[in-house]
Amino acid sequence: MKDLPTDAAIGIFDSGLGGLTVASAIADALPEEHLIYLGDTARVPYGTRSPSTVIRYACRNIAFLKRQGVKIVVVACNTVSAQGLDGLTADGGLACIGVIKPGAQAAIEASTGAGIAVLGTPATIRSNAYETAIKHVDPTRLVVQLSCPLFVPLVEEGWLTHSVTYAVAREYLSPLCGRDIDTIILGCTHYPIMESVIQSVI
Ligand code: DGL
Repeated sequence: MKDLPTDAAIGIFDSGLGGLTVASAIADALPEEHLIYLGDTARVPYGTRSPSTVIRYACRNIAFLKRQGVKIVVVACNTVSAQGLDGLTADGGLACIGVIKPGAQAAIEASTGAGIAVLGTPATIRSNAYETAIKHVDPTRLVVQLSCPLFVPLVEEGWLTHSVTYAVAREYLSPLCGRDIDTIILGCTHYPIMESVIQSVI
């Protein structure tokens, strides 16, 4: 990275359009930076695939961004970040920043001490990455994890306020009913795009 010009772009990738939520936040925070965004819409979804497949796709994305001359890579995909970034950093030869630790930290800071719910893809929930990150800071904290595999295709389809999307959200979120939860992590970059549905169902 030290050999790269400081005006080189920041590379950002996700399995599809969900990571644009992260790109937009980076553009707001660092308006002077150039950004290159890669959405792997040919292979979305990642969240229902095995860890080894997710890592293989991620390494190809990083190699692509490296060829564009980026100075750093933001892994704007919880599913990839949840598998651990060590292999990715070594493979791509570029520093990679993930979204799990910042998300877990932000949730702990937003919470008043009650439980934290994590919504994520099957791969993210299976990895326990959020629960591990939260319990690393607060071992006694209640963490409820919910896998929501249909949310990503609904968002990619643009069914953001469709009645089917509401029905699916009611089904997925029903286990939160009556639980002592005060904070929800939208643990997939696609989910903020349908935040209004999640808010209204909750
Ligand atoms: N948007 C990605 C995430 O943050 C992955 C969604 C998917 O491809 O299943 O997990």
